Amino acid sequence: MKKIILTGGCGFIGSHTCVELQNAGYQVVIIDNLSNSELAVIDGISRITGVRPTFYNKDCCDLVAMRTIFQQESPIAGIVHFAASKAVNESVQNPYKYYRNNLISLMNMMQMAQEFKLKGFVFSSSCTVYGEPDEGNNPVTENTPIKPATSPYGNTKQICEEILTDTMRAGAAYKTILLRYFNPIGAHPSSHIGELPRGVPQNLLPYVCQAAAGIRKELNVFGNDYNTPDGSCIRDYIDVCDLANAHVKAMTRLVEDRQKEPVDVFNLGTGHGVSVLELVRTFEQATGVKVPYRIVGRRQGDIEQIWGCVDKANKVLGWSAVRPLAETLKNAWNWQIKLNNKN
Ligand code: WQD
Repeated sequence: MKKIILTGGCGFIGSHTCVELQNAGYQVVIIDNLSNSELAVIDGISRITGVRPTFYNKDCCDLVAMRTIFQQESPIAGIVHFAASKAVNESVQNPYKYYRNNLISLMNMMQMAQEFKLKGFVFSSSCTVYGEPDEGNNPVTENTPIKPATSPYGNTKQICEEILTDTMRAGAAYKTILLRYFNPIGAHPSSHIGELPRGVPQNLLPYVCQAAAGIRKELNVFGNDYNTPDGSCIRDYIDVCDLANAHVKAMTRLVEDRQKEPVDVFNLGTGHGVSVLELVRTFEQATGVKVPYRIVGRRQGDIEQIWGCVDKANKVLGWSAVRPLAETLKNAWNWQIKLNNKN
């Protein structure tokens, strides 16, 4: 059974990817310092798959600890590197934390991949590298020019992509796939794992769920004066389980030596744009629950509209997003109900 390391594997996307890798027959080892996740996520994964992943509560910036783990766990086929700080606003307030954590953790994992001769390195990147697409340039493709980052967080993603690309092209023991996520949302249909926002949710759907649950007075819709059909911003919301399956496809392509290029990049989205107000309306239709909301001013740093062209992932990885938005939103609401009952 091939072994895969997931750094940040207790996180939102990492935990769902662990489930899908186990379902695909891989053995999974999670490394997570629990700085933005909880140990209980391991229990949730085990309840879904019946298999408890090996877990190390360690920081990827600690190279000595990483080498000990890789020595203990060898042979290892591949690594999916999720571990990173990812709050856009926080990165503006504390850029050094973001550059230090996101770049050192990446380079440590690259060092391990080289030393222990892994076959595959999958990197968790983001559509944020595209910045604001020029007028009429949606959907963005993998060849859409990268724009100067609008936050230190986004800049760390761009720099990490460059470090991986340059290193691969110079020759490495392993090959790499960069996965550019659009907006991951939802929760596993079992409601055993889902998104665990800390404090006031920054992202849209967790806030919608909390407003619907009465935990928040109302959703603030950040602007309805954009140049879009209903005036609210447009994004490409992708179900987290669909996203997790894309990681299985990418990792399998690498560990089965089916990629000839040293590095390749794929957009992961649905290929469709959905506005904030459309998402709210679809949520209400799917759950039967009203979402109290108020239109307020624009949020600084928001781009107006972006959605992805996913033809390359369809063709090369044989992957596409399959879950309808309404189903994803229902799963997110069921997870919120589960969280409410726990608290
Ligand atoms: C989506 C839309 C908001 C909250 C961010 C990161 C990106 C990636 C995904 C990591 C926007 C609107 C939101 C609210 C609202 N993360 N909104 N009220 O900003 O597209 O992307 O998360 O890789 O890097 O930038 O996602 O969910 O914050 O916002 O109206 O309370 O919802 O204005 O139009 P975003 P988001």
